[in-house]
Amino acid sequence: MRIRDAEAGDWPAIWAFAQPIIAAGETYPWERDTPEEQARSFWMDKEPPGATLVAELDGEVAGTVEIHPNQPGQGSHIANAGFMVDPAFRGRGVGRALGEAAIARAARDGFHAMQFNAVVETNTQAVKLWHSLGFETLAVVPEGFRHPVHGLVGMHIMYRVLGS
Ligand SMILES: CC(C)(COP(=O)(O)OP(=O)(O)OC[C@H]1O[C@@H](n2cnc3c(N)ncnc32)[C@H](O)[C@@H]1OP(=O)(O)O)[C@@H](O)C(=O)NCCC(=O)NCCS
Repeated sequence: MRIRDAEAGDWPAIWAFAQPIIAAGETYPWERDTPEEQARSFWMDKEPPGATLVAELDGEVAGTVEIHPNQPGQGSHIANAGFMVDPAFRGRGVGRALGEAAIARAARDGFHAMQFNAVVETNTQAVKLWHSLGFETLAVVPEGFRHPVHGLVGMHIMYRVLGS
């Protein structure tokens, strides 16, 4: 597996798996019909202090992570990150590798900690993965997410200091 900075030309491959993930509405609190250009701009236009990385497996873009400040101004030392792995490549360590790479990159770029605001509690693979990478659940927002199948479910707020 190779993890590298995303390039503009990676977007069509990313969108091919990101669009169904967003449309499913099960793991991201995004509008399910988010227009492609809005998604592209958010995910790819990371002038400093953010970053977008991709994981290549078998020569293809298998997954991606975007890193951005969780808050502006006096909260901008805490990073946030979003992860998406192509379902065709799941369970092969891409998510874990992207998580480790995001932690290293955010630390390198000077962020103090990383926070996830909305890890859906029914996304048990993600919850387990982030806990295994050193994130703690600070709180679960009760009924914070309207899951299309499970109804109102909780959202984990997760946090990890970087560089440790
Ligand atoms: C969550 C996500 C990023 C994980 O990506 P992935 O490449 O499948 O993850 P990995 O292969 O590194 O597996 C991570 C852990 O998930 C679990 N897991 C993965 N695939 C699994 C499977 N098919 N069955 C059971 N457990 C599985 C394992 O516990 C694994 O831990 P391990 O490394 O100790 O074996 C991916 O499922 C995804 O993109 N989901 C949709 C978007 C999303 O939820 N993003 C995160 C929002 S917080």
